Amino acid sequence: MDAFNYREANLFAEEVPVDSIAERFGTPCYVYSVDTFKRHFTAFADPLAASGVPHQICYAVKANSNIAILKLLADLGSGFDVVSMGELQRVLAAGGEAGKTIFSGVGKSVEEIRFALEVGIECLNVESVAELDRIANIAKSMGVQAPIAIRVNPDVDANTHPYIATGLKENKFGVEMGQAEALCQQAHANDHLKLLGVGCHIGSQLLSVEPFVEAVGRVLGLYQRLQSVGITLTQLDFGGGLGVPYQGEEPPSPKSYIEAIVAKLAEFSLNPAPKLMFEPGRAIAANAGILVTRVEYLKPTQEKDFVVVDAAMNDLLRPSLYSAWQEIVPVDKALAGETITGDIVGPVCETGDFLGKEREVLVAEGSLLAVRTAGAYGFTMSSNYNTRNRAAEVLVDGSDVMLIRQRECFDDQIRLETVTPERHRL
Ligand code: LLP
Repeated sequence: MDAFNYREANLFAEEVPVDSIAERFGTPCYVYSVDTFKRHFTAFADPLAASGVPHQICYAVKANSNIAILKLLADLGSGFDVVSMGELQRVLAAGGEAGKTIFSGVGKSVEEIRFALEVGIECLNVESVAELDRIANIAKSMGVQAPIAIRVNPDVDANTHPYIATGLKENKFGVEMGQAEALCQQAHANDHLKLLGVGCHIGSQLLSVEPFVEAVGRVLGLYQRLQSVGITLTQLDFGGGLGVPYQGEEPPSPKSYIEAIVAKLAEFSLNPAPKLMFEPGRAIAANAGILVTRVEYLKPTQEKDFVVVDAAMNDLLRPSLYSAWQEIVPVDKALAGETITGDIVGPVCETGDFLGKEREVLVAEGSLLAVRTAGAYGFTMSSNYNTRNRAAEVLVDGSDVMLIRQRECFDDQIRLETVTPERHRL
């Protein structure tokens, strides 16, 4: 369920007709719903509150990092999971707290670690032995103690697209289970590090609870082994990854996902109870957004029919990169057009530039289409390929419409370039 529904023949975003948004702000345009963001956040927060376990939701900023969205989530009480200095700066710009933000990722630079410690990051999730050494050295030079957790690779198959599976031995993420205990001991013994916890993130768009529960079981086992050698952790991070329906999939609800994890936790009777951290991205943002695009041309050929629209792979990369299927619907179901079965393609000069293939859709030249479930990994993965200006982003709250990111213009794109560069001899 989301907030993009038809009233008679017209698609609405909450109380606003989508065609009026396209008229006002142009296309392609991302449209998000305040109400859906709130409902999805609450879908995690409520069962966690009901479970009685200490917890913190750290929304994964990479899913949708617009600062107005981050502000909305911060106001709901969310913490954040970031994977770059830029994402951390976005959280701070949105009024989020560094003290409720955790920093993940395999390649944190010296600059990023230093910045995170300066602003008082809640925790750095360490992914390798080399990174642990780097953080300890930086903390020492700054005369501080760095709060850290070890992200382990639990070697659990998430049954998802290979590009977004992260918890298998062959993936670059996390510290091997076999090394984790020794690394935790090393961290615990270092005066410049404060070892808070361990955690995992096994992949994205998971459609069943079993892999989560298996990974959680392994992390809980590690907690117990560490406790038996005198190291008591205060937090456990179970990452993100809960899937959403793109094409009729039936992922577990956030409630059943949380309940399955809390039930696994109960089997271990940990004392003292650690704080559980969750890093959902897609499950909060995906169905809170659509991408609105206008049909430029209808192009029938002998082989197949093409619908050429004004959004492209630079705006929404998921179909091209992962062969992802996202529903594409007409904004006006009663328009005087034709229903065709064809490929919905963009203007980018790549055969791989498509939003959907072999789709049956009602179109006419100039009509509007909406790509659903585009609120996560949509705008954040967009680029300027083919020197296309990135799309506008609009947030709808009831009957109110807010432009939360202007459409880029050509000057934005060439601002850092020059035709008269200075010459240097190095
Ligand atoms: N935590 C960590 C450490 C992650 O790497 C990710 C996602 C998340 C949390 C959030 O996962 P989520 O709840 O959104 O599944 N671009 C891909 C998805 C890449 C996910 C990368 N990591 C896509 O469009 O499907």
